[in-house]
Amino acid sequence: MMDEILERARRLELNRYPDHTSRALREELAAYAGVEPEWVWVGTGSNEILLDACLAYGGAGRSALLFTPTYSMHHRQARIAGTTTLELPRADGFKVDVARAVDAINRLRPDIVFLCTPNNPTGTLTPLDDVFEIADACPGLMIVDEAYFEFCDTTVVPELEDLPQVIVARTLSKAFRLAGARLGYAVAQPETLHPLLKVRMPYAQSSLSQVAALVAVERRDEMLLRVSKIVAERERVYGELSGVPGVEAFPSRANFVLFRHADSARLADGLRNKGVFVSGLTSTPGCEGCLRVTAGTRPQNNLFLEALRALV
Ligand SMILES: Cc1ncc(COP(=O)(O)O)c(C=O)c1O
Repeated sequence: MMDEILERARRLELNRYPDHTSRALREELAAYAGVEPEWVWVGTGSNEILLDACLAYGGAGRSALLFTPTYSMHHRQARIAGTTTLELPRADGFKVDVARAVDAINRLRPDIVFLCTPNNPTGTLTPLDDVFEIADACPGLMIVDEAYFEFCDTTVVPELEDLPQVIVARTLSKAFRLAGARLGYAVAQPETLHPLLKVRMPYAQSSLSQVAALVAVERRDEMLLRVSKIVAERERVYGELSGVPGVEAFPSRANFVLFRHADSARLADGLRNKGVFVSGLTSTPGCEGCLRVTAGTRPQNNLFLEALRALV
């Protein structure tokens, strides 16, 4: 893929501004997502899409509801936009309790509701029927963060026709392995996307990142093959972790597995000494004693599992 990106990049005229509508890329992403190009907008990573949505729909005197623990940047994006954040802790197993979520929305009337599914850092998938029930209750915007959607193959996008209040945020940083190109995209009804366009700077996506993303999306069959291997490895890692004494592993539909151990800080240090880097989530409320490991290749995962078993 890199060779083709470099080949196509050679033909760019970098003395000229990029296509500010990212037309070619939006058309390819739209074909991938199964919508019309007008339903897609791109950003500098999905982080920028999420920030734009907060700038457009949030702001001073407005609020955003988050189901915690969740992706920490959602707090930050809301606050950068001057939006107050409200939290509803997830229930057992990090599930969103729909009845409590609807009740909280009816009481608090948030302008934005964030739902990350599969959720980072827990890997929890919120079933589509639950997403729809929460969306029905939303008085303002609902942002469904599908950064890890390829690893679970469950998406609200086909239902967006009936969901004018929903923006789906996705990224090329995970399944497409293109984090360095900084390319994310939103899918929503065109009228729902319009306010986002008003808070953006022109020419935000460089010609280079547009072409890199275009090549990656054109070659999506390679990505899907890779994803199926990662999904199989994620299931294996989860199964093996569940059998390690003292470890509580949580089922995941993303490309990582969250697990808890009473001695997690020592485990993280010991793993690092063996060249395995895991994310420590001890300072995240609700994730005390938890570590998150990304599913890598089979040999990488074996190295992790062997190192962990030796440490416990
Ligand atoms: C849930 C979630 N949303 C969004 C992002 C941001 O991705 P991007 O690289 O597209 O900004 C991440 C990155 O880790 C993520 O985990």
